[in-house]
Amino acid sequence: MKVLLVGSGGREHALAWKLSQSPLVDRLFIAPGNPGTAMHGENVAIPAEDIEGLKAFALREKIDFTVIGPELPLTLGITDAFNAAGLKVFGPTRAAAELEGSKAFSKELMVRYKVPTAFYKRFDESGPAKSYIETHEPPFVVKADGLAAGKGVIICQTAQEAIEAVDLIMTEKAFGSAGKRIIIEEFLTGEEASFLAITDGTTVEPLAPAQDHKAIFDNDMGPNTGGMGAYSPAPVVTPALQKKIMETVMVPVVNAMKADGRPYKGVLYAGLMMTKNGPRVLEFNCRFGDPETQPILMRMESDIVPILVAASEGTLHEVKIKWKQEAAVCVVMAAKGYPGNYLKGSEINGLEEAAKLNDTMVFHAGTAVKDGKVVTAGGRVLGVTALGPTIKDAIENAYRAVGKISWEGAQYRRDIGKKALTGC
Ligand code: AMP
Ligand code: GLY
Repeated sequence: MKVLLVGSGGREHALAWKLSQSPLVDRLFIAPGNPGTAMHGENVAIPAEDIEGLKAFALREKIDFTVIGPELPLTLGITDAFNAAGLKVFGPTRAAAELEGSKAFSKELMVRYKVPTAFYKRFDESGPAKSYIETHEPPFVVKADGLAAGKGVIICQTAQEAIEAVDLIMTEKAFGSAGKRIIIEEFLTGEEASFLAITDGTTVEPLAPAQDHKAIFDNDMGPNTGGMGAYSPAPVVTPALQKKIMETVMVPVVNAMKADGRPYKGVLYAGLMMTKNGPRVLEFNCRFGDPETQPILMRMESDIVPILVAASEGTLHEVKIKWKQEAAVCVVMAAKGYPGNYLKGSEINGLEEAAKLNDTMVFHAGTAVKDGKVVTAGGRVLGVTALGPTIKDAIENAYRAVGKISWEGAQYRRDIGKKALTGC
């Protein structure tokens, strides 16, 4: 079959790598892709948000199946547009993608269906939000309602910080129209985990649990990023907790979406805080995580294509996903300055050396080819991912590969996976 993958990050390189291994795939196109995805298929220069352009390409090329990576085309309705044109897609409809597209929507749904989450209030204007802050105890978590590339959440230790956060989002419009509405949430403590499942709207099949590292610096210091590394499995998600998360979060939400007339098909990603009172949902995403997908897919034994097709066709109950026993760790190498303004165009050295290592994949996230050389072109540049018999081995293997790669100003965390070893 002919498959089209939409997106251009590290997640999409991992998906392209996995999709291309399927004996069911004759041709793989990636739009727009990156120099990494080009190793596994044919890049097509159509932006991920150009829904009309992508649809025209899929119709012209007679694409059998399209997999959507990022949230933006999903929240813009790419699945609806493709389905209306008779094209098969893996990814939720626009109405279902609201789970990620609007935090107010997802919180309201969770409260209505008693899915455990932080207590919250929603505000459409800054005045009442500030009055709320002045009459309640800090800390506060202030969140823009809409999509803000992972940056729309501000943790505030004092009322003053929270008021500044409200001004930043609602008055200064730091996240544009995503900040027309905000929610203010109770601050939760505990260890975080990413729990992803694939669903056809009825059956919910969990993926291997993973843990992300959101802060830019070691020991979770500094500002949040899209994710500086991830590992799988996540020991914090014990089999008993996995069962509890399925029963109290994943299955109820999929059922709730169906009951609300927004059947959810695709990846449902719950960002969770493991509090002392049990797992609490921090957010939902309507797509694979980045960088969680990199270690998760390296651990997936099964062919991914029948799983994604079954999810889109409503036959997921016929599929069982097999996992490797080994652990996987992904270390993100980022450009100097990220997550602020960063440098582009630095030549990357050592990619071939790293590619020679066994059980290691260097997934490209923000790279470009210039004068025949691979150069940096994004904030998160590479996701260096390795397998190992244990998390400790996988950490060593990933950092061995990182050690072969360099460019001017490259930065990465030295402690990816450490939490899994110390259990804290
Ligand atoms: P979100 O995009 O909603 O997952 O938030 C980004 C990050 O902010 C999360 O990964 C957490 O580290 C943190 N966060 C979000 N909500 C809360 C909360 N209610 N309590 C504590 N930390 C939070
Ligand atoms: N790694 C966080 C995310 O994909 O949203």
